Amino acid sequence: MTLTNRAVIGVLASGRGSNFASLLKKHHEGYFKNLTFACLISNKKSAPALEIARENDIPAYHLSIKEFPDKDEYEKEIVRILKSSGVNWVILAGYMRLIGKPLLEAFPERIINIHPSLLPAFPGLNAQEQAFHYGVKTSGCTVHFVDDGLDSGPIIGQETVSVLETDTAADLSQRILAEEHKLFARCLKRITEENWTLDGRRVIFKS
Ligand code: GRF
Repeated sequence: MTLTNRAVIGVLASGRGSNFASLLKKHHEGYFKNLTFACLISNKKSAPALEIARENDIPAYHLSIKEFPDKDEYEKEIVRILKSSGVNWVILAGYMRLIGKPLLEAFPERIINIHPSLLPAFPGLNAQEQAFHYGVKTSGCTVHFVDDGLDSGPIIGQETVSVLETDTAADLSQRILAEEHKLFARCLKRITEENWTLDGRRVIFKS
């Protein structure tokens, strides 16, 4: 990709929104050169992420899938809101639904997710607990493009976290989360400010 346009970000979230909050903090500190947060959409009415958006004057929408005949129609409405907000990058900040065709086709190689394990190990829910109980000595987090699989798209960046003998699963989750906040910002900055290309599954940064 050659950098030409400003990155206009739409955020999808389902929960507490700590990754979103930490990206906004970095944004307010001037960390990103070329980026605006245009809107946040949540599938959960009670998601604290909605409140974080409102407090930061970012248009926030709650869309329940139950109000739509099927997932396709639900996603088409998400696409409509994102497009009418001028969005050209979508970030999943704890969005707990698989992304379907309408979103993937509207934003090819423009949807990125953060996952709390070193993919391809431990995709899916409760990745930190999966890694902890498997007994790995190193885990971490991954920022990746979203494709039609489960946490399976090309990897943009990863960070490792050691598992200590004294850790509980909650301790490990907490230390991974701290690294997620840093990694997400770094990857979002690189992908929106540097030139990059996809060589098969490999994301290659050119500058
Ligand atoms: C994070 O652990 C992220 O990796 C996963 O969902 C969680 C969201 O946390 N995809 P938060 O809502 O950003 O605090």
